[in-house]
Amino acid sequence: MNKIINLLSRNKSENNIEVYGWVKTFRANRFIAINDGSTILNLQCVIDFEKTDKSVLKRITTGAAIKVIGDLIESQGSGQKFEVKVNHILIIGDSDPDLYPIQPKKHSLEFLREKAHLRIRTTTFNAVMRIRSVLSFAVHDFFQKKNFFYINTPIITGSDAEGAGEMFKVTTQNYNTNNDVKEDFFGKETHLTVSGQLEAESYAMGLGNVYTFGPTFRAENSNTTRHLAEFWMIEPEMAFFNLNDNMDLAEEFIKAVLEKLTLKCEDDLLFLNNRYLNEQKNKPSNQRSEMDLIEKINFVVKNSFKRISYTEAISILKNSKPNKKNKFKYKINEWGVDLQSEHERFLVEKHFKCPVIIYDYPTKIKAFYMRVNDDNKTVRAMDVLFPGIGEIVGGSQREERLEVLKKRMKELHVDENELWWYLDLRRFGSVPHSGFGLGFERLVQFSTGMSNIRDVIPFPRTPQNASF
Ligand code: 4AD
Ligand code: MG
Repeated sequence: MNKIINLLSRNKSENNIEVYGWVKTFRANRFIAINDGSTILNLQCVIDFEKTDKSVLKRITTGAAIKVIGDLIESQGSGQKFEVKVNHILIIGDSDPDLYPIQPKKHSLEFLREKAHLRIRTTTFNAVMRIRSVLSFAVHDFFQKKNFFYINTPIITGSDAEGAGEMFKVTTQNYNTNNDVKEDFFGKETHLTVSGQLEAESYAMGLGNVYTFGPTFRAENSNTTRHLAEFWMIEPEMAFFNLNDNMDLAEEFIKAVLEKLTLKCEDDLLFLNNRYLNEQKNKPSNQRSEMDLIEKINFVVKNSFKRISYTEAISILKNSKPNKKNKFKYKINEWGVDLQSEHERFLVEKHFKCPVIIYDYPTKIKAFYMRVNDDNKTVRAMDVLFPGIGEIVGGSQREERLEVLKKRMKELHVDENELWWYLDLRRFGSVPHSGFGLGFERLVQFSTGMSNIRDVIPFPRTPQNASF
């Protein structure tokens, strides 16, 4: 079967080709633009309306699926190199023009979210989802070329220990009547995983370098443009790796997948670039990005990320003037407070004007498994912060010393009995190791310039919303 992307890249005419697609527009009873999802470009099909049955003409409506048989010829018009002179047209699936919601006009993203099953027919979602696919292949390609092994960690988990976020319960019980957890399916409380890290650590201790790429779930009630209740995370975990190695890998990884994107998705990126520029025009001038989308991506690919410790970050923030009022909403008044997204974005967008990696965070605000530094006040944590996105990666060197780990678990009330197997990893051949998690949708958001994370995953799950 001919795909439009292949037809449009031909260099000579050809008679009697067949092509399928959905009608985007039908103008002047003559020009049908069809698209089959293979490329951002539509194929122009020109019909002779005098020779076409009136009843067929009426059925060539936006959204209808058609089959066209005709001759691929060099285009007479200016918009395209090739077009199809139609000999025969067949309606495969009608689309009632009065009811079809995706009309050839600008729809708001909010409106399209309510039509998530059809929004993929729009040029924007077509481009975003092709980019999502290319990025996900680039992720595998990067790790496979480095001899990392892809592992699948459980989605249903019996431990609620990581503390990465609020969890969804998994149960077959009717919780109104039966509360004995022993009678539940697994005989214990289970949840949807918030991260595959702990299991990935176990596999890194046998395979050396591994990565996960799977769905994760957080029941945080955060209705923001950067949070989903169901999102995809990439979590590499490396044995014999310290925090510097970890930062190097995260930076190399992000650059490699973005570079692959610029090479493979030129047309889609150009389209999204224009979309991004138009969106910027509607923003107040002080909130506009200085670069367009493609410049932003290239900037990240070509420049080093700035690396600073948490302590340095705090001293910059304390002495900075973020806006006219010289105030952050959340004041930075002491060492030890967690950074809010306004602080992260200030450092990235205003102060350094490049991606920033902050490392060595206070022990108090980070998870139990992060390696404690000799100062006993900080842990070997790192966050990668991106313009417009904030945190895109969170990771750390892991605590490999059994006694220190046990002490940290006690402090944070993490149940040793639950995580006996995790402690075993420190009992038998423990080694320094590190890893990180990259939120895939945040990467797609950055790469497409979409301002809301709900528009870079096919069917978003957010508080009060699990339609489709
Ligand atoms: O920083 P987080 O919570 O780190 C972990 O889960 C570690 N176990 C990772 C590791 O070391 N293996 O989450 C990692 C990343 C964040 O930086 C962010 O990009 C993304 O996951 N993320 C979300 N993305 C969308 N919606 C949410 N609710 C997200 N929460 C985190
Ligand atoms: Mg984090």
